[in-house]
Amino acid sequence: MTQPLLEIANMEVCYFGKPVVRDLSLRIEPGEILGIVGESGSGKSTVIRAAMGLLKNGGAVTKGEIFYKGQRITHAGDRELGKLRGPEMGMVFQNPGASLCPVRTIEKQLYETVLEHEKTSRREIRERALEIFQNMGFSRGEEILKSYPFQLSGGMNQRAGIMMAMILKPTLLLADEPTSALDVTVQAQVVKEMMKMRETYGTAIVMVTHNIGLVEHMADKVAVMRQGSLVEYGTREEITGSPRQEYTKKLQKAVLRLNRGQR
Ligand SMILES: Nc1ncnc2c1ncn2[C@@H]1O[C@H](COP(=O)(O)OP(=O)(O)OP(=O)(O)O)[C@@H](O)[C@H]1O
Ligand SMILES: [Mg+2]
Repeated sequence: MTQPLLEIANMEVCYFGKPVVRDLSLRIEPGEILGIVGESGSGKSTVIRAAMGLLKNGGAVTKGEIFYKGQRITHAGDRELGKLRGPEMGMVFQNPGASLCPVRTIEKQLYETVLEHEKTSRREIRERALEIFQNMGFSRGEEILKSYPFQLSGGMNQRAGIMMAMILKPTLLLADEPTSALDVTVQAQVVKEMMKMRETYGTAIVMVTHNIGLVEHMADKVAVMRQGSLVEYGTREEITGSPRQEYTKKLQKAVLRLNRGQR
């Protein structure tokens, strides 16, 4: 058996002493796409924040282990994780506006992020950024780069966040509702771009989403969360083809209703 890229074993996460994720185990193989779905508050963001060592204040991994490429990172500090964040583990935050620095332009933050990890010219970084925007079907990349986060709409901030995570070609991309603020056509282009990144660089992706339809489209494996626990975990065919849980069926029906409403 090959070594998993990311392994989470029997993890419990507490916020202020209260468990919000319980006995959760997952493994992500290199190049694999895992979709995590579940209702609001089920613990999806908490799982990927724990993996990045970026739980919010009051949050801690209280049981179990997290390994990245076999390295135990369960309680690793910022120094150790700082080396992994970016080129190894990239993250797209659920609320990109809040994760960006408010007083610096996107362009400035972009240079800082990339130059921390590689020696490249600003021109080259800029070109790469514009290319990613272009590939996501967005021609106004220049405008995003010169803006401050507060000047951008939720969708534009989201694009900036995706671009910044993708530009370092991470081995593992953890994406938390990366397309929630984008309209359906742009969403499709972003997803296509992520799939292309996997094809080209073998990027593994963990995609958190409310949208089980998106998961049916792109994921190899699916994890369904409810109240801090995994209620289903398996291949896409297993989960979306014949979900065992009433809960998963309900999530699917909700998406079908949504899709019909959009037409
Ligand atoms: N900073 C925090 N302080 C206290 N409790 C928190 C904090 N962040 C999350 N929680 C709690 O942890 C639980 C899981 O939250 P989490 O944000 O992981 O859910 P989620 O599945 O990502 O939800 P959503 O779909 O709304 O983003 C919730 O009960 C939430 O109230
Ligand atoms: Mg969340």
